[in-house]
Amino acid sequence: MPGRTALTIVLAAGEGTRMRSAIPKVLHPIANRSLLAHVLAAAANGSTNSLAVVIGPDHDAVAEEARRVRPDTAVFVQHERMGTAHAVLAARDAIARGVDDLLVAFGDTPLISAETFDRLRAPLKHGAALAVLGFRAADPTGYGRLVVENGSLLAIREQADTNAAERTITLCNAGVMAIDGRKALSIIERIGNANSKREYYLTDAVAIVRDLGLEAVVIETNEDEVRGINTKAQLAEAEQVMQARLRKAALDAGVTLIAPETVFLAADTTFGKDVTIEPFVVIGPGVSIADGATIHSFTHIVQSSIGKNALVGPYARLRPGTSLGEGAKIGNFVEAKAATLEAGVKVNHLSYVGDAHIGANANIGAGTITCNYDGFGKNTTEIGAGAFVGTNSSLVAPVKIGKGAYIGSGSVITRDVPDDAMALERSPQTNREGGAKRYREMKTRGKAAKSSS
Ligand code: UD1
Ligand code: CA
Repeated sequence: MPGRTALTIVLAAGEGTRMRSAIPKVLHPIANRSLLAHVLAAAANGSTNSLAVVIGPDHDAVAEEARRVRPDTAVFVQHERMGTAHAVLAARDAIARGVDDLLVAFGDTPLISAETFDRLRAPLKHGAALAVLGFRAADPTGYGRLVVENGSLLAIREQADTNAAERTITLCNAGVMAIDGRKALSIIERIGNANSKREYYLTDAVAIVRDLGLEAVVIETNEDEVRGINTKAQLAEAEQVMQARLRKAALDAGVTLIAPETVFLAADTTFGKDVTIEPFVVIGPGVSIADGATIHSFTHIVQSSIGKNALVGPYARLRPGTSLGEGAKIGNFVEAKAATLEAGVKVNHLSYVGDAHIGANANIGAGTITCNYDGFGKNTTEIGAGAFVGTNSSLVAPVKIGKGAYIGSGSVITRDVPDDAMALERSPQTNREGGAKRYREMKTRGKAAKSSS
């Protein structure tokens, strides 16, 4: 909205008891991003816009998340939960600074879009004092009803305070509101708690605006955008809506999804051109897939970058820190973690590659394991460009395989192999005993870690 300043206040002080979780409600994720982060991402950005979040006491983690997503977020604590208007006033200092448009959104309504925030602001520009986001509810039970007469909004009635006629209204309050920022404090401060719940309802702002002779309007949107999340079932529904959006965006951007409904994406997944994703693929946060890459079925990828024309899977697992160069190939039942595979590397079958760097065009045979964990700590494996590692080899890190080196099948490599050398080592018994003895000693002293990764 050029030329106008805005403050968006996100209310997130609720306990979220119905989630039956120790985690504050707004920190639960959909598409691998917290509910709060989704709302903050949709809120107006840039130098003329500011953000505030209202959190409950003891919700430091919520404050942290807000600052992680948008470092400029001002955090306010609502010490007692006395209603949505009371929550907005917790951010009084931010409102008092004075803006053109004050927006109020809920932290548990993550599907809201930036365009909708903009649509709500438009009436303020044309002189309205308040704009409410409304939607036609399939089942209006529990929502505030929008009382409209001759096209103008008279009031919002909360479910508990409705009469029989009002309960038949299906046009409901989504919870998002835009208020004239210069008048907002005087409006919200007039809100009382004379209702069945003895709460200060932000929704009463509508009737107050009318009493002041000012204009209140409704902007409609579809129900999917304003689904509020109170339960795990609703969280799962919102996930579905979000996944449908992400799949559509991927398809619109030219990604081939053979069975879109079976592919799970994260909010931050990025794609190049001519990417193909086969059915039943799960993509977690922090994944980029470059031009021409193919992800075969039953693959799970997190925090990894897939290079141009790379092939992954079927049944591959790429864990955080995996980077595949152009044309690299990860085949079935291969797991990679913190591993860089340069262009043209092939790890085609049944391997674990962790804490490793593999030079261009190296070929890693079936069943090769980088033994990165010795029971105490992680060690790295370096494999030079063009090396060939025979099947069923164990590369006991820290270890370096030189460029163009050739490792015979079934080797247990415990020492560095020079460039272009040929090595065929079959598990020197003494080494193994040494390691086992050391592990037993550490275990007795209670120092060995419980598991590897
Ligand atoms: C609210 C609206 C209702 C609307 C519905 C849409 C009011 C009074 N009612 O009802 O008209 O149809 O949302 O989902 O606004 N919060 C605080 N502090 C408080 C109370 C609430 O921060 O003291 C936060 C909650 O964390 C939540 C949001 O405000 O994010 C909404 O509160 P909630 O109690 O869920 O309101 P609803 O009864 O759903
Ligand atoms: Ca709610």
